[in-house]
Amino acid sequence: MSSPHPSGAPPAGDPAAAAIRMMAASPPLRDLVSDVIEEGWARWGLPRQDVTGILAAAMDTPDDATRTAFTAAPYLCRPDLAFADGYAAARAAKFDVFADLIAPHVRPGPVCDMGAGDVQLISRLAQRTKSGSRFVATDVFGEPLDDGDVSFVLQEQPDRLPLADSSTATVIATGMLHHMSAEVRSRLLDDVRRCLTPDGALILLEDTYPAMDWPSRDDVDERFQALSSDDRWGFLAATDWWGNRVMKNLPDVPLPCTFLDLAGWRVTLAGAGLAVRSADYLGVVDCGGHMATPRSLVVAEPIG
Ligand SMILES: C[S@@+](CC[C@H](N)C(=O)[O-])C[C@H]1O[C@@H](n2cnc3c(N)ncnc32)[C@H](O)[C@@H]1O
Repeated sequence: MSSPHPSGAPPAGDPAAAAIRMMAASPPLRDLVSDVIEEGWARWGLPRQDVTGILAAAMDTPDDATRTAFTAAPYLCRPDLAFADGYAAARAAKFDVFADLIAPHVRPGPVCDMGAGDVQLISRLAQRTKSGSRFVATDVFGEPLDDGDVSFVLQEQPDRLPLADSSTATVIATGMLHHMSAEVRSRLLDDVRRCLTPDGALILLEDTYPAMDWPSRDDVDERFQALSSDDRWGFLAATDWWGNRVMKNLPDVPLPCTFLDLAGWRVTLAGAGLAVRSADYLGVVDCGGHMATPRSLVVAEPIG
């Protein structure tokens, strides 16, 4: 299986701090992270001129990067109305794009978005698809909600979905399977297999990229591909730090950054009894949000 970190073992200590050190050491990585964030901020009316300074402050203190970023730009942790509005609009647009990408793959029957954070995606899918009567979002954090067809159910264990055996036609995971150790992820995927109907599907929209060289989709993807394999991991991890600790203001959120490339997903999913039906690299897509990360869309089905 391909490693979570291309050069072998994951970096020691906090992977986010390691990624910030990598940014400081690698101008192409630093420039790409900065340009991608700036471009997203510009699109959503956020103060793009501040991005370079925030990243510079973080790179001066990799082990305390989030606090330093908050000191450089206090609105990040105490958002004023304009910042909060721009950020909320960016997130809503991201979920519009996610729903467009995912809806065509949703199977008839109940749908679960695991590690959903909130009901933004599942609500859009409930509106867009006629797939089933139940649309459930789950997460290890969050408030239960029951709003007709759409509900949010707390997941009490990281590796156990609150769903009955063979009950769910579609399980969706967007940007969540790198938020846990490889061991927990394997057990959670085993549990996805338990919950899926025989003709069901797991739809992954994950921060990932092909293992080898690939035809570049655009200039940004070309710059991403030109990075060393370590720096590619650094790009995913640095944008993960930015999106979760800085933009979402979750300074203590664990970021194990256990990313896989597409080859790694095939092996990992097969280990859980799931065969990849389609795997598409989407590039460093413009998901309409405040940042972009290289993502792939993988559809996998139960084996046997
Ligand atoms: C980066 S957020 C992604 C949220 C949402 N899916 C999205 O695309 O914006 C990762 C989410 O995974 C959740 N998470 C982490 N470990 C989990 C686990 N073992 N089972 C379910 N959710 C988990 C976190 O609480 C967090 O809400």
